Amino acid sequence: IAERPRITVVGVGYLGATHAVCMAALGFDVLGVDVDERKVAELAAGRVPFFEPGLQAKLSEMLATGRLAFTTEFDEAARFGDVHFVCVGTPQAGDSDAADLAFVDQAFEALASRIDRRALLVGKSTVPIGTAERLTRMVRERSPIGDRLELAWNPEFLREGFAVEDTLHPDRLVFGVASEWAERQLRAVYAPILAQGTPLVVADLPTAELVKVAANSFLATKISYINAMAEVCEATGADVDLLAAALSHDARIGGRFLKPGLGFGGGCLPKDIRAFAHRAEELGVGEAVAFLHQVDDINTRRRLRMVDLVRELAGGDLDGARIAALGAAFKPDSDDVRDAPALDVARMLSLEGAHVVVYDPEANANAHRAYPDLDYVDSLAEAVTDADVVALLTEWREFGEADPEALGELVGRRRIVDGRHALDADAYRGAGWEFRALGRPAPRRSVVPAPA
Ligand code: UDX
Repeated sequence: IAERPRITVVGVGYLGATHAVCMAALGFDVLGVDVDERKVAELAAGRVPFFEPGLQAKLSEMLATGRLAFTTEFDEAARFGDVHFVCVGTPQAGDSDAADLAFVDQAFEALASRIDRRALLVGKSTVPIGTAERLTRMVRERSPIGDRLELAWNPEFLREGFAVEDTLHPDRLVFGVASEWAERQLRAVYAPILAQGTPLVVADLPTAELVKVAANSFLATKISYINAMAEVCEATGADVDLLAAALSHDARIGGRFLKPGLGFGGGCLPKDIRAFAHRAEELGVGEAVAFLHQVDDINTRRRLRMVDLVRELAGGDLDGARIAALGAAFKPDSDDVRDAPALDVARMLSLEGAHVVVYDPEANANAHRAYPDLDYVDSLAEAVTDADVVALLTEWREFGEADPEALGELVGRRRIVDGRHALDADAYRGAGWEFRALGRPAPRRSVVPAPA
């Protein structure tokens, strides 16, 4: 294989499209492959079919260089690539916590049966531990060139909203390899990133698979930890924001991923911790990660608590109440509503009879597809008009910057619950709002009469 390997990226969804564009940005010739004709057509025409800051411009730029192209033909991909990255999704299987590996298996099979010269297949998808070794056996059986077609695992840690930045400047690289040759190929691909001084961990296949789920489990646990403390705060009158601030000054704990609120959602953390717990049970080490079930439960309870607070402010009954739901995406700067706490809360409020009016700056269309029964509007002002209670569910900048006085003019009643600790409580209270936040005490009513 040449010093500058030619790269294919199989599966051009969120991860794959970003990876393909970024590999072209590093100077490689890249072919993106997907069975979804619509996705391929959109990307080939220079349109990113989802919201991700910075990716659209980079895609246009890379198409213009001629280094990046897209196809639906696996035969073409097999002829083109020296290193083939598999970036297809591993969603939660419909009927269990396990990951659904159908797309991964199909992608590896399609490549293995077609490639007829030495090449490297690299899995990037998040998979149950043991998948890479199983695929290695499958690839050997299906490949016309036997073990000259090798397999490696190279997990991906990018965050939505920072996908380009995280891909071009990752915190670390992890290579799971079974031979020195495979390691050399990956080093050639990542040479420009390694030259930045990026730390590299070269590991075996199972370790590389485990790094990904272990990292996501740790992050989920950190969020649920602070949210568990929020529950304790609610029972004691303590303030979880002050608590988090004080904890974060301990460098051993650190302040990142310690933001209390509605908890985690999205296409990764929830499904990854469930699939990990499920796989650990299959491997006979379920007890070792049984705490992940609690991490999940704590996370779900925050959504229920949010509904309680909104109901409380609505006067104890949601039936007929008009609720402004600010946000639907699982986090700001994303249009992704997969397992979104915001949308889940909106749905629960609506099930209790509330008239829920949702506004998200980017995710309305996806949210509408997921929950067509809620009411969607195109501006913050429309959402809050005549609201009995405003519920802040995703911390978009626009919501944090809104003027409490101006919003107050529009609503029916000045009552707001901040589910993401994104608003200035004093400013809202100063403007006459009844203001509540998860894990923060309601303002103390003084028991000592004010001096006359
Ligand atoms: C995550 C991992 O961060 C990333 O490394 C991995 O590759 C994919 O999964 P992502 O799903 O894009 O990335 O979102 P992330 O920024 O991690 O946020 C996940 C969820 O946790 C969001 O719903 C966010 O609102 C929530 N969160 C995050 C908190 O509630 N508190 C925090 O302190 C941090």
